Amino acid sequence: MKKIKETNDYRRLSAFYQENGLEIEVSETAPEGTLKNWKCEDEGTKELLAAATLQKRDGCYVLGDLAVTEAFRGTGMGKALLRIVEDEAKSLGAKEMWLVGKVPEFYKKFDWTEVQRETAPDISRCQSCEDFGITCFPSIMKKSF
Ligand SMILES: CC(C)(COP(=O)(O)OP(=O)(O)OC[C@H]1O[C@@H](n2cnc3c(N)ncnc32)[C@H](O)[C@@H]1OP(=O)(O)O)[C@@H](O)C(=O)NCCC(=O)NCCS
Repeated sequence: MKKIKETNDYRRLSAFYQENGLEIEVSETAPEGTLKNWKCEDEGTKELLAAATLQKRDGCYVLGDLAVTEAFRGTGMGKALLRIVEDEAKSLGAKEMWLVGKVPEFYKKFDWTEVQRETAPDISRCQSCEDFGITCFPSIMKKSF
């Protein structure tokens, strides 16, 4: 059985995010502004199947990270976790949410839209990175509630 639960074990989550291709350093301590983390585990084997992180940066609610282990992709888990993170942000009073990601087509399915870097708040290193749009092409995205 699979269950989604909150977790503070950021070391495990950061290693999981890294293993799943996200540009993140493995760390005991969650980045400043982290509000909540969720994990989805196999209740039997305790294998980590998916995780997500909600942060607040520059006064904005941000989807920090979201990943699903390769074998479980395409089963609705990413969608379920995204919904949980969005609902939590809404319950904290968010009128909009932000992310910097590499799979815009996934988020567009859930009413996120791409935003020009010039009009985005200071939510990531992308805002001042010289490689942005030259050798690195992340999407800055926003969803209004
Ligand atoms: C992106 C990711 C989180 C999606 O999770 P998932 O569990 O496979 O997604 P779901 O099964 O919930 O898919 C929901 C819908 O999104 C679509 N979808 C999934 N991944 C997609 C992608 N990369 N591009 C476009 N659509 C995608 C699915 O086809 C599905 O559509 P449907 O409802 O019309 O059938 C997962 O592929 C992942 O962890 N990737 C590696 C890490 C990563 O890139 N994280 C995001 C960082 S910004």
